[in-house]
Amino acid sequence: MRMTHKSLSQWLIGIVLAAYSVASPASDVEVLHWWTSAGEAKAASVLRKGIEQQGHQWQDFAVGGRAGISAMNTLRIRAISGNPPLAAQIKGPEITEWARLGFLRNLDDIAEAEHWEEKIPAPLRDVMQYQGSYVAAPINIHRVNWLWVNLRAFEAANADIPTDFASFFAAADKLQQAGYTPLALGGEPWQVATLFDSLALSVLGPQDYQRAFLDFDRKALLSDDVVKAFTLLARMRQYVDDSGQGRNWSDTTRLLIDNQAGMQVMGDWAKGEFFAANQQEGKAFTCVAFPGTKNAFSYNVDSFVFFKPNSQSERQSQTDIASYLLTPQFQRDFNRYKGSLPIRFDVPLPKGDRCAQQSRDAFIYAQENGTLSPSMSHGLSTTRYVQSAVFDVINEFFYNPKQTPREATEALYRAILSAQA
Ligand code: BGC
Repeated sequence: MRMTHKSLSQWLIGIVLAAYSVASPASDVEVLHWWTSAGEAKAASVLRKGIEQQGHQWQDFAVGGRAGISAMNTLRIRAISGNPPLAAQIKGPEITEWARLGFLRNLDDIAEAEHWEEKIPAPLRDVMQYQGSYVAAPINIHRVNWLWVNLRAFEAANADIPTDFASFFAAADKLQQAGYTPLALGGEPWQVATLFDSLALSVLGPQDYQRAFLDFDRKALLSDDVVKAFTLLARMRQYVDDSGQGRNWSDTTRLLIDNQAGMQVMGDWAKGEFFAANQQEGKAFTCVAFPGTKNAFSYNVDSFVFFKPNSQSERQSQTDIASYLLTPQFQRDFNRYKGSLPIRFDVPLPKGDRCAQQSRDAFIYAQENGTLSPSMSHGLSTTRYVQSAVFDVINEFFYNPKQTPREATEALYRAILSAQA
């Protein structure tokens, strides 16, 4: 059969297109994360748009729930079966674990080209490195030790914003009398642990907190201060509602948004939730450092790792994403929705966001005074093995009033010892 002029040109176009699609950098970019709440989803869409603007196809791999525990379980299965996504949100010492197992791409070329050394605060650089090389790209700094306050409830109950435990419990009593749930707490182990984390930071102080939860020092872990932190946790039981068991964190923040509860102890991703519900800071809600932690900063840094690519085009997509993450535009837009600080301190904070300003001031103070503390409950001080053993002990204690604070302290120490072994 003779080829007509038309069919020949179509054939040629076909070949050109096929060749182009092989050589083109545009590819599917699968990104694992757990940002599924209203505020988190807004932030995630900034990432998605940025990736799409570079000509890539975003393939969403969102596994919500339990502050990433579900996402990490899914990731393990995918990685073991030889099919990890191109990029994944992984944090803290877990980064080193994946790097040690040989899964991660070295990012030194990008770090050098993009001057990460100048952009990432010194204490956070180590977390992103394995054997002196970058294997993760940080995107933000969340402060964990916050108390979120529903101002309408406080006004109705004539309560003062807490600054210490005496004023915290006084406000809780007033809120209760006025018919509010004083403390909104989702009964998931990580949420109870997030509350305990701030309690421990407050009672032990940043130095001993680090001895206990970073160094696992026996003396610090078995100290009277840990007993005191458990005692305070027990006292909080009477202020939470009965239907908290299994409730996720954003539905828990909802209780403040809907004016049913007075307070929540949560990292500043909660601020993203208030903003997503069009609530104004200073009117509907406000933030204050958890009692006794004004000068401390419990940090939680979100970061992305990149699994070793299978092709040049995958590698190029990863390079594009990793380079984009530290651009001022992404840093500004993403963190505005996420409730976190940009990792880059040269990026201005959203106008009028007093919580962000307080957070940055607290970070700078803590950095200068050695009170920056990696958050245990958000996987910055230890791997998930130790972390989940700690969660079990805290959760068991909170829901079992028969256990004494001293018993819980000893159980915590034993759990940490055996998880490390
Ligand atoms: C993550 C945040 C996330 C939060 C709740 C934290 O561990 O660092 O990015 O918003 O969990 O899902």
